[in-house]
Amino acid sequence: MKIRKAIIPAAGFGTRFLPATKSLPKEMLAVIDRPIIQYGVEEAVTAGIDKIAVITSRGKSIMEDHFDASPELEQFLEEKKKADLLQEVRRVSNLADFCFIRQKKALGLGHAILMGREYIGREPFAVLLPDDIFVCPSRPCIGQLMDTFEQYQASVIVLGRVDKEGTKKYGIIKPKKISERVFKVEDMVEKPGPEKAFSDLGIIGRYVFTPEIFAAIEKTPPDHRGEIQITDAIKKLTDEQAVYGYLFEGKRYDAGNKMGQLEAIVEIALKHPEFGRPMKDLLLRLSREIS
Ligand code: G1P
Repeated sequence: MKIRKAIIPAAGFGTRFLPATKSLPKEMLAVIDRPIIQYGVEEAVTAGIDKIAVITSRGKSIMEDHFDASPELEQFLEEKKKADLLQEVRRVSNLADFCFIRQKKALGLGHAILMGREYIGREPFAVLLPDDIFVCPSRPCIGQLMDTFEQYQASVIVLGRVDKEGTKKYGIIKPKKISERVFKVEDMVEKPGPEKAFSDLGIIGRYVFTPEIFAAIEKTPPDHRGEIQITDAIKKLTDEQAVYGYLFEGKRYDAGNKMGQLEAIVEIALKHPEFGRPMKDLLLRLSREIS
């Protein structure tokens, strides 16, 4: 079955960016000229997805406005003959069909995904965590997972190699190697730390699930913080059906923390048609000044 729908969980408080995120959703912080969440949306759309449910929460409705039409702004740009900007503004509001679902309480990523159950129905679907920005020249990261889903007809999670610190930040899998980039998930644990990590293969923010994940989430008890972790639910799913991991091709930025976001801004700017040259000049000048 073809994957048409995606869930983007975006209901968190964004505590790592306080005070910037006191009233502005973390997903709306800009990386160059677009909010973080737009990178995830464009990735899904480029991969062929056209229906997106964003899981949101109180105080975050400007995310809805961002992907909606903006008649006053469009009229203003038209009058000022700013055709390029007008085209871009319209492109954003036509990216996909959106649905916004409120999560009333911060009960974890697993719970946030469960909020999309009615929207998804009985079909496989993608999940994109907006904190992670992927730059994959040949095929969007979620598209690489969708291709793997096509091949195995099973849930697929994206994998990246992590260092010791990474074992404290990401879910880690116990892999059984199938091919160069595909691993069968034998076991997994959420943020185990270096001593308890099964491997250096971390889960980094993209998933394709069969609809059976919803029943698995429902059966998953909350952790010690009262949150239902998607990692625990995936582990439950592996009791019933195979789950695969895919070592993606490309580069990924963790825009969910301050340093990761700075890195994303600098590196994406370096590849940007307008800012590539000036950013390179800036970095060369700064490197002379600080060396
Ligand atoms: C979540 C998941 C974790 C995954 C990570 C990827 O954690 O629970 O398994 O490795 O996203 O970014 P969070 O970053 O929401 O704490």
